[in-house]
Amino acid sequence: MDYFRYDNGVLNVEQVAVEAIADAVGTPCYVYSKQTLVDHYQRFAAAFASLNPLICYSIKSCANLSICRILSDLGAGMDLVSGGELHRAQLADVDPARCVFAGVGKSDEELRQSLEAGVGWFNIESEQELEVLAALAEELNTPCHAALRVNPDVDAHTHRHTTTGTRDTKFGVYIDQAAAIFEKYGANTWCRLCGLHVHLGSPIYTVQPYINALQRLHELINQLRTNGHSIEMLDLGGGFGADYETDQTPSAQHYADALVPMLQPLANDGVQIVLEPGRTLIANAGVLLTEVMFTKTTGTRDFVICDAGMNALLRPCHYDAFHFIWPAHVQPEHVPPRRDALLDLPGLQTVDVVGPICETGDFLARDRAIPPVHRGDLLAVFSAGAYGMAMASRYNSRPILAEVLVHGSQVTICREHETYDDLTSHELNPRTIDVTACVPTNNRASREAMNS
Ligand code: LLP
Repeated sequence: MDYFRYDNGVLNVEQVAVEAIADAVGTPCYVYSKQTLVDHYQRFAAAFASLNPLICYSIKSCANLSICRILSDLGAGMDLVSGGELHRAQLADVDPARCVFAGVGKSDEELRQSLEAGVGWFNIESEQELEVLAALAEELNTPCHAALRVNPDVDAHTHRHTTTGTRDTKFGVYIDQAAAIFEKYGANTWCRLCGLHVHLGSPIYTVQPYINALQRLHELINQLRTNGHSIEMLDLGGGFGADYETDQTPSAQHYADALVPMLQPLANDGVQIVLEPGRTLIANAGVLLTEVMFTKTTGTRDFVICDAGMNALLRPCHYDAFHFIWPAHVQPEHVPPRRDALLDLPGLQTVDVVGPICETGDFLARDRAIPPVHRGDLLAVFSAGAYGMAMASRYNSRPILAEVLVHGSQVTICREHETYDDLTSHELNPRTIDVTACVPTNNRASREAMNS
């Protein structure tokens, strides 16, 4: 499933030893395999091809411009959730018409920016948002297309922080409210409400939640059509799994086998099907490289202390997420035959792999069996391409790490390591400002204009 392989005990990404990258770039850093990303995209696109879908890469999963450019070159549109992501999509030469814009809290400025850019679909998450968007579209004389994000009250059986399709989450409008919203706004000419959007959560390891949601969406579409509304787009969101453990995740084909038959009649009817994969494309295409700084024992617990922690990869401590961690250079008996939590090879030691951050919650793995490691060894944290760098922070004043893209034997730094100057540059010139003379901006200004 990916191009990170051990050859004579040495971990390579495509044709390059990861140790050579660490030596050249420094640690910690993220390393991506272009071929893995391309393969994953092509497999996903092939599986759903009969629907002729618009595949919108979820930028939030890994926002690096070089990654966005690869996907843009492959024909992907983008799933955006902020003005910053639109900015990235534009820099990556993605046609805004092939972008969808979701998110519960879009600012007026972001809506204006997206209207002016010609974003294809606004995935609307509340009635108020729809009103504001329609008013802005009129003000800018720029009609737009909108899809209503509905919340079908389907449990995706994923982590509570990333469950989005149950009734009590903040996302979308409850599905039973949708028909009334179409009645009220369906005839608006500035904001043409003619699509539906769902996103159930992430990652989703079975097809059943999608099937449940699609059944509810079919009922809703029938009801809306009966009421005279035309539905021109259906966006099924993302959430497709990644192989955090070898072969533990449905393949793109497996998801497609279950979902395409349910979507094909709509596609044949001219409904544009949109899919928003993020993780399933990029997770397995990235590793985090981190160096062992020290090892120590309390007598009851052994620690491997690395130069990457929750600042570099938040997922283990935030979601209790599993990432396979293994040294980049191992004895032949320790070449891992697969990556999973229960890998049992002779001579492993059970340790906590922790970072340098001043919190007990700062860990990459707990009670994890790995080959013996020593100060200076390089570790690879696998399947870290999605929501790794994207959620990295400067906590403890640690500069954001570098990103490296490998293609065959070519190694490209696609984001430089930040420096200490980067940490402080926005703070060097404090300035006193006059707040009495300011004009209300953004949402407050437009609220007052709409009420007057
Ligand atoms: N579409 C919408 C509307 C979303 O909210 C998301 C993810 C996606 C698509 C892409 O989901 P994916 O295909 O990548 O699973 N930080 C968490 C994941 C948060 C997902 C947020 N929304 C993690 O590290 O697991």
